[in-house]
Amino acid sequence: MIASLLAILVIIAGIVVCIGYNTMKPKVPEIIVTRAELDAVDFNHSNLLLTIKVSLVMTAENANLKSRVSFYDTSFSLNFNGHRIAKWAIEPFGINANSSVIVNYISQPTTIHLNAVEGEDLDRSMELNMISVDLKGNSKTRWRLGQFGPIKFGVHLNCQLLLPVDSTTIFPNCSSRVALRFVILAR
Ligand SMILES: *[C@@H]1O[C@H](CO)[C@@H](O)[C@H](O)[C@H]1NC(C)=O
Ligand SMILES: *[C@@H]1O[C@H](CO)[C@@H](O)[C@H](O)[C@H]1NC(C)=O
Ligand SMILES: *[C@@H]1O[C@H](CO)[C@@H](O)[C@H](O)[C@H]1NC(C)=O
Repeated sequence: MIASLLAILVIIAGIVVCIGYNTMKPKVPEIIVTRAELDAVDFNHSNLLLTIKVSLVMTAENANLKSRVSFYDTSFSLNFNGHRIAKWAIEPFGINANSSVIVNYISQPTTIHLNAVEGEDLDRSMELNMISVDLKGNSKTRWRLGQFGPIKFGVHLNCQLLLPVDSTTIFPNCSSRVALRFVILAR
């Protein structure tokens, strides 16, 4: 008796979730790296100092048709071969339903010291007109799903940017993924 009641409740809950999901079509907000370029790069072979300056354009997207989304605790870091080039955070911001916000970032020229092996690797990649830079980012998003309370998702960005040394702009379209660890913590 109790078991069949429970089973019916589970089925009803399942139907409600399915209908809710299909009518609201929730979309986890995303951060997408749309443009990137190397503004300056200079490598001095005698002291192994690499000076590098990068600019990025990212788009934060809210594809939900009904809910406004807030992004908060947003931070990024740029690294070359494990050496920090830049680290920055941005203030919380909100995006209306079905729209997006463009986030620009231009790093200061940063000088890092390489070891001899890294210097040789860099020479080879510069000959191929390409420097690989890693962009990582984290943000938390909060939004409403119909009449359900606010839900929260952490998102994580992890992009390898292959930047041409001649400053050609690239369009990586690298987008964030849901950070599962944060979803569980937020529930
Ligand atoms: C490279 O570094 C050396 C040693 O610090 C310095 O004397 C030289 O002027 C630098 N070269 C350039 C092009 O900056
Ligand atoms: C969402 O935005 C797109 C492009 O801005 C627009 O064409 C579309 O009609 C919008 N959809 C709704 C439901 O507002
Ligand atoms: C990224 O998107 C733009 C425009 O949609 C496209 O021109 C470009 O080729 C894409 N880049 C990659 C790496 O897919």
